[in-house]
Amino acid sequence: MSAIQAGILVREIKAHETDVVRKLVGIEKQAFGNGGLHNEWLFLPVLRYGKVLAAETGGEFIGSAQFIRTWTGDGTAYFYGISLLPEYRGRGLGTEFLERSFSILKDEGIIRLILSVSPDNRGAVYLYREKLGFWEKEYVKDEYGPGEDRLIMEREL
Ligand SMILES: CC(C)(COP(=O)(O)OP(=O)(O)OC[C@H]1O[C@@H](n2cnc3c(N)ncnc32)[C@H](O)[C@@H]1OP(=O)(O)O)[C@@H](O)C(=O)NCCC(=O)NCCS
Repeated sequence: MSAIQAGILVREIKAHETDVVRKLVGIEKQAFGNGGLHNEWLFLPVLRYGKVLAAETGGEFIGSAQFIRTWTGDGTAYFYGISLLPEYRGRGLGTEFLERSFSILKDEGIIRLILSVSPDNRGAVYLYREKLGFWEKEYVKDEYGPGEDRLIMEREL
């Protein structure tokens, strides 16, 4: 059985795991260029004061999902984003990774997730809406600058 067929391990990453952090930052940069958590200045605060979960398969880290709690005081967390190495995409691993991540958050008392995604990112919107049960809360025009609209989505855990 190949490592991919064997599924993934999901675990929280800590700041002292420098090599892992570097790898996950690299995957973010590869996925989003200058968006996402593409350097340590952006990645480490989310890791230290939010939560970064990593997916591992066959002894290799293949991506991360990042979360921060909000100030709403009602158990809502912001799902910052997810990135997987390109060669591991399109095999159901993103869905599995997020289902397992959400279950970890739920066990820690998070009851609602909110996210923001580019409406042009068809794969991610499909994944969030059709596979993971997010609904479209708001469409914000030019949120990240001219022509950079964002779709705000939400779901209960
Ligand atoms: C988004 C991402 C995490 C999804 O992970 P993945 O492992 O590729 O997703 P899955 O294989 O679990 O696929 C989920 C579903 O989306 C569908 N899908 C994937 N890419 C698609 C696309 N471009 N258009 C439409 N549907 C798409 C798949 O067919 C699958 O649906 P199905 O099971 O009904 O066939 C991954 O593609 C990635 O890292 N992308 C780059 C970073 C990114 O865009 N992150 C999201 C924004 S924060």
